Order: sequence, then structure tokens, then C-alpha cells
Amino acid sequence: MKPWNVRLFGGPIEMGRYANVIATSDNKVRFSVWPEKKNMGRIKIGDYCLICPGVRIGAANSVVIGDNCMIASNVDITDSDWHDIYNRISPGVSSPVTIEDNVWIGYGAIICKGVSIGANSVIGAGSVVTGSVPPNTVAAGNPARALKTFDPDVKISKRDALFSDHPNFDKKMDMLDREMLQGNTLSGWLRHLFFPKKGD
Ligand SMILES: CC(C)(COP(=O)(O)OP(=O)(O)OC[C@H]1O[C@@H](n2cnc3c(N)ncnc32)[C@H](O)[C@@H]1OP(=O)(O)O)[C@@H](O)C(=O)NCCC(=O)NCCS
Repeated sequence: MKPWNVRLFGGPIEMGRYANVIATSDNKVRFSVWPEKKNMGRIKIGDYCLICPGVRIGAANSVVIGDNCMIASNVDITDSDWHDIYNRISPGVSSPVTIEDNVWIGYGAIICKGVSIGANSVIGAGSVVTGSVPPNTVAAGNPARALKTFDPDVKISKRDALFSDHPNFDKKMDMLDREMLQGNTLSGWLRHLFFPKKGD
């Protein structure tokens, strides 16, 4: 949605089928590949992923995200420190980031270099993930630590199910848009600029 608010820098940057990227003018999505060395650097995002406003992914080496992942607003994922701790003018250390299928990363989390997040796991809002998270685990905090593991008997529904009936999905999204935007008119927008009132 609003693809002109998605900023791409460098490449390769690959995105799978049915991925939803939501970007807004005041909170753009940014994918940057800035290779540490020649033939390094890539971003690969799988099928059915959700990328929310303000997400920033930066790769000097490799950031690979599996299918059905949900990346909430303002999440930052990077595989590099971009500077060395002693030599502040060198490119610093990079190490690949791997996010397996069906991972959900909560609002504002930071995923640092070398991290792997196992399939189905959830990262709490605002977490700083510096070490790897096993599959089927909820982890949170700074630094993120495992809070619990999933009950293997409970089925986890995945985003691909949304697209099994895509005409209906389109209809639902359209209805949601109409509901969110109802009452928005050109004259109302002009009035709020010149005669703002409480509740605008
Ligand atoms: C991680 C999360 C899923 C856990 O939810 P939950 O299973 O209901 O867990 P609880 O709220 O019972 O919390 C369990 C413990 O983890 C702690 N915790 C939960 N979320 C945390 C977070 N983001 N950071 C640090 N600690 C957290 C709680 O304080 C609690 O600690 P305690 O046992 O010492 O009291 C949820 O807190 C979260 O962060 N959701 C992300 C929501 C989001 O970003 N949505 C974006 C829309 S796509």
C-alpha cells in the first residue's frame, strides 16, 4: 500500500508473492543493501509476509526472512554494526540474519547482526535481539530472553490462509478502508487546516 513510500537502496532485494508492504509518507519503509565486500549483501523476503510502516532492513551481508512473517511498525533489522568499536571509520563487523517462516516481530524491536529466529517464534515489542531465538518461542526484553514456548497441540494460523479466498480478502480490506476513512472529505480537510477544532 502506497508503494511510492517504500525506499530501496542497492540490491539484490527480493520479495515473495502476496507480500503486503504498508508504507506511509510520514513513516516510510526502507530496504538498503550496502555490501561489506564485493558480491556480498542481499535482502530476501518470503511469500505472504507483512511489512508495516517504518520498518527498516539494512544488509551489508545477508538478511533472509521466510514465508508468512509479520514485521510490525518501526522494526529495525540489520546484519552489521556498520562501524568497528575501535576503528570508527571502518565498516565494522557483519554476520547474516535469518528469520525463519511464520515469525512475528513486535512493534519497534531491533534485530542485530548474526541473529537467527526460529520458525513460529514471536519477539516482544521494543525488544533488542542480540542472540538467536529457537523455534516456537516467545522472547522479549533488552537483551531479548525466552519467556515461553508454544503448546505443540495448539494450531498456529498463518497469513497464507488470508489469501486462500483472495476476492473475499480484497472485499474485506476495501470495507476496512471505507470504515477507517468515512467522514473524510476535501472540505473537512481544508476546514481543519484553517479552522482547527478540538477532536480534529
Ligand atoms: C511478547 C508478547 C506477545 C507477549 O504477550 P503475552 O504472551 O500475553 O505475555 P504476557 O503479557 O503474559 O507477559 C509475560 C511476561 O513477559 C513480559 N513481557 C511481555 N512483553 C514484553 C516485552 N515486549 N518486553 C519485555 N517484557 C515483556 C511481561 O512483563 C511478563 O513478565 P512477568 O511474567 O515478569 O510479569 C506481547 O507482550 C508483545 O510484545 N506483543 C507485540 C505486539 C505488537 O507489537 N503488535 C504489533 C502489531 S503487528
